[in-house]
Amino acid sequence: MEGLFETQRGAPLTIGGWPDVGAGEIRYGIEIPKGLSLLAKHDINAEVMGLNDVPPRDRPNVYIVRTAFQIMVGFGTALIGIAAWYWASRRWRRLDNRLLLLALVASGFMGFIALEAGWFVTEVGRQPWVIYGVMRTEDAVTPVPGTANVLYGFSLLYVVLAATLVWLLLRLRHRGPEQAHEHHSGSESNVSH
Ligand code: HEM
Repeated sequence: MEGLFETQRGAPLTIGGWPDVGAGEIRYGIEIPKGLSLLAKHDINAEVMGLNDVPPRDRPNVYIVRTAFQIMVGFGTALIGIAAWYWASRRWRRLDNRLLLLALVASGFMGFIALEAGWFVTEVGRQPWVIYGVMRTEDAVTPVPGTANVLYGFSLLYVVLAATLVWLLLRLRHRGPEQAHEHHSGSESNVSH
């Protein structure tokens, strides 16, 4: 998840940047000295095992796992920040701030992306094992034919459902919530315009 290549004592925590697997390092990241030893072992001088000590065939895809982890933690931290910003703004009656409102809208998407990224971290990070140390994913693939068709079928179904949702939302937007309300409760609605 952190993309540490060399086994070392007092391992740094690297924030951001891009893993260069060939060179065995993280490029352009911000290093917090001894941060990873502290996080992983609660001791700033503890030894943390690096990827170089894992046989290449037992390593997951470092690009995907580390990047997904950075996205998840980045968005998680941002969400905490936005929540604090909201409560502070509420406390000081500054809620009519366009930037804050935009951040609140974005936080819905960020939660969703963080969730997907977290799932990538665990599912890609566990590779090549399906049961760690016991069974590899390649040995667990089902020999039953036709599973690809089930995947295509479900994918198609979800595309149709997503398109229907967008279509419904667009329809609702054109009609407006008040008209939709009147449609259900008759014209006695006392909504003021
Ligand atoms: C500071 C913020 C965060 C930290 C430090 C963090 C840390 C972690 C770690 C260490 C894992 C891997 C656990 C493991 O299998 O060993 C994980 C998985 C995951 N995280 Fe995060 N996370 C953060 C924010 C978030 C946010 C905001 C979301 C979603 C809104 C999220 C959703 C997930 C999901 C869905 C998984 C996979 C769980 C599973 O496979 O059972 N995380 N997270």
